[in-house]
Amino acid sequence: MTAAVVRTGLLRELIEAVGEAHVLVDPDLTASYETDWTGRFSGAARCVVRPADTAQVVAVVRACAAAGQPLVTQGGNTGLVGGGVPAGGEVVLSLRRLSTLGPVDLRSGQVTAGAGVPLAQLQKHVRAAGMDFGVDLAARDSATVGGLVATNAGGIRVLRYGSMRSQLLGAEAVLADGSVISRLGGLLKDGTGYDLVSLLAGSEGTLGVLTALRLRVVPRLPAGCVALLAMQSTQAAVDLLPVLRERLPHLAAAELFYESGLALVRKHAGLPAPFSEPVPVYLLLECLDRTDPTDDLLAVVAEADGLIDARVASDAASQRALWAYREAHTESINAEGVPVKLDVSVPVADLPGLVDALPVAVAEVAHEARTILFGHVNEGNVHVNVLDAVAEHEQVTEVVLRAVAALGGSISSEHGVGRAKANWLHLTRSEPEIAAMRAVKLALDPRGLLNPGVLFA
Ligand code: MLT
Ligand code: ZN
Repeated sequence: MTAAVVRTGLLRELIEAVGEAHVLVDPDLTASYETDWTGRFSGAARCVVRPADTAQVVAVVRACAAAGQPLVTQGGNTGLVGGGVPAGGEVVLSLRRLSTLGPVDLRSGQVTAGAGVPLAQLQKHVRAAGMDFGVDLAARDSATVGGLVATNAGGIRVLRYGSMRSQLLGAEAVLADGSVISRLGGLLKDGTGYDLVSLLAGSEGTLGVLTALRLRVVPRLPAGCVALLAMQSTQAAVDLLPVLRERLPHLAAAELFYESGLALVRKHAGLPAPFSEPVPVYLLLECLDRTDPTDDLLAVVAEADGLIDARVASDAASQRALWAYREAHTESINAEGVPVKLDVSVPVADLPGLVDALPVAVAEVAHEARTILFGHVNEGNVHVNVLDAVAEHEQVTEVVLRAVAALGGSISSEHGVGRAKANWLHLTRSEPEIAAMRAVKLALDPRGLLNPGVLFA
């Protein structure tokens, strides 16, 4: 059989599976699925397939398996590590049409969502039922629930509710051979063998295609207060954590950023300076509760060591204005140029040392580079964004990830490993661990058809 006949055969089967309108081959239509959000990772797709339900996903996976055709699964394409875009020649399996939302079950405190439901839509749906969802992050309008589970995404509420895996009570997934595993019953106690649902969380599409998720909901806390603290040092911000833990049980976010990032946010988002003078460190705190937490937050701020200045916002508009300084970082950095993006975490006590060391280490391998740091202080999670260093991306990645590994940290805190960091997985996962992970991959996807090149180099 010639290559042309194989191609025609597969395309015909994909069209039969999802309908002609949902098999995209025109480059104008496939382009937005072929390049990641940062613009750094890109590859030509053989085609983009947009199934509407699990049965159609099964048909697509079976057709690809029969043809030996690799697949890349994609949600909202907000990934930052090249894990959801083709490297070249894969079929892109876009799950955005799997957008069904089930009723919020108030008795169990659970909801079932299709993999393609954007986070903001899930939040709106859950809030309409008087509850809330425990994960939130800046890409909420596009990032899909399936992608968030596949990468075990974190975001701004991890200190309160944990990451995406902590919200996950069940899943439905299509495996590489087209078989379906479905555990959407939401059982809170189930001691029957391997936890396949948890294994799929963070597997980055390498073990199966997540099609639906059973998720925990949390109480809605309508009264909020946000403070932006100008701090003398990262150490002062870290030293405040025990005080926050003890005195602010309603703390919902603790975010860190610096003057270098703020300057880009001001330039590209057009925001005014938050304080009269630039300061070494900005710490944003948010409390959420049933009753107004402003007095408690004010009391902590008033006594905080290492504080230079502070702004506290209780009304919704002022809170959003303070959050904008933090949330506009990603877009503003991208507006400035294509960054080398690394997302790392270290034991929180080591965060100040890492923050001081990284710009120096990066400058040694990329002389023109600008290193912008921001992140989630409670988890020791810093987003390392290096501008003007795409040519030196290998060296920059190497020095940053080695510094993190030396501190016992993680080379990927919440964005996943993707293609971007696959070569460095060995820095923070041992040989036996990687061998065990490869054995799982081999058992579930023996021909390596699902997201090849992701997670394992
Ligand atoms: C964030 O915390 O804003 C996200 O992880 C996105 C990013 O790192 O750019
Ligand atoms: Zn983050």
